[in-house]
Amino acid sequence: MKKVGVALLGLGTVGGGTYRILKNNHDSIKKNYGVDLEIRHILEKDMTKARALGVDESIISCDINNIINDAEIKIVAEFFGGIEPAKSFLIKCLLAGKSIVTANKEMFSKYWHELEAAAKKGKAGLYFEASCVGGVPIIRTLTQSMQGNNILSLMGIVNGTTNFILSKMADEGLAYADVLKEAQSLGYAEADPTADVEGFDSMYKLSILSSLAFHTKVPLDKIYREGISKIDKIDIEYGKKFGYALKLLAIGKKQGGKIEARVHPAFVPSSHPLAAVKGSFNAVHIIGDNVGDIMLYGRGAGDLPTGSAIVSDIVFAARQDKHRHATFNNLTDKVSDRGFSKDFCCEYYIRMTVKDVPGVIAAISSAFAKNSISINSIQQQVQGQNASIIFMIHKTGERGIKKALEAIRVINTVESIDALIRVEE
Ligand code: HSE
Repeated sequence: MKKVGVALLGLGTVGGGTYRILKNNHDSIKKNYGVDLEIRHILEKDMTKARALGVDESIISCDINNIINDAEIKIVAEFFGGIEPAKSFLIKCLLAGKSIVTANKEMFSKYWHELEAAAKKGKAGLYFEASCVGGVPIIRTLTQSMQGNNILSLMGIVNGTTNFILSKMADEGLAYADVLKEAQSLGYAEADPTADVEGFDSMYKLSILSSLAFHTKVPLDKIYREGISKIDKIDIEYGKKFGYALKLLAIGKKQGGKIEARVHPAFVPSSHPLAAVKGSFNAVHIIGDNVGDIMLYGRGAGDLPTGSAIVSDIVFAARQDKHRHATFNNLTDKVSDRGFSKDFCCEYYIRMTVKDVPGVIAAISSAFAKNSISINSIQQQVQGQNASIIFMIHKTGERGIKKALEAIRVINTVESIDALIRVEE
């Protein structure tokens, strides 16, 4: 029986969940997968966490060298989050020949190449199933199950906090600020919610997922990002009337040989499988040229769901004689613009407030026409001296829309442009 030593960096929510799974499933993992996993060391300064889990205190310290110098430790799972000291510790481990397992999407998306270089040097493995969509096995699906396809599109709800907020706004007609407060009091949203609500977390995950899907490193600076903090509940209501659900989507597509990657709120038809993904659940919808549509659905966060992905990587790593690494076409961090789209195309929902006087719609329509933008439908509601107008726009380029809106904004009968929401089919 192969005995494999494991170390954990941190014993917080996911570290604790991983510890529990490794303990509870030790015998079944041994029986079913032929590896005897032994937790030999844990880095953690808060002993109360360790005591609550019943960890033997003699295997806890704050010194990474206790792990580096233990030749029996072959796999190190990291739960610190953030960049440092996680990155330096993991590079040290990789160079010492220890495989690493991480859920740290920010560090991984920013320093993948550096980690991979250290892994190759140390002949160690680099595993990151838990970095994207928690317990949902999306990384292994992309790396091990799609070889018979060119992936055409990947579209996901990869952040549970924002999906919880948008679902509650839609189902209960509540305002963003009120739901955010509730999400914070339930522990779904952080005290500083920026990383989730402004789309950074989704962007890190999209960088990793689209890099794997398109075999080309997709750096963060090639991803368009917009969050949900400006979403007005009124647009969710109007969207529902038009047959749409609003979601924060992470989208990667390859069209005409170019990759486009973007994170933003978007309407999807209520019949789309992603529309049914509610609350803190996550899902990723993939289209392969041969397999067609696939959707993976599940919990994107939490101690046991994310711990489940970590343990799957630990077992996978423990069973490898030789570790494989990603197969990117671009092998350095210096990625040229050549393979990436500079624009993208969508349908659009645009709401604006105008003065209720003759010629307003003609002036707005003319600005759209000058930018070759075709209107699909117009709905108007008069409110006193003003009118609220919603334009649904046929599929067109983002640049053209932005240009048209610049011209519309300065029409003196246009009071405000209140919402621009992309529509994905
Ligand atoms: N904060 C993330 C979410 C989970 O809300 O989905 C970790 O990436």
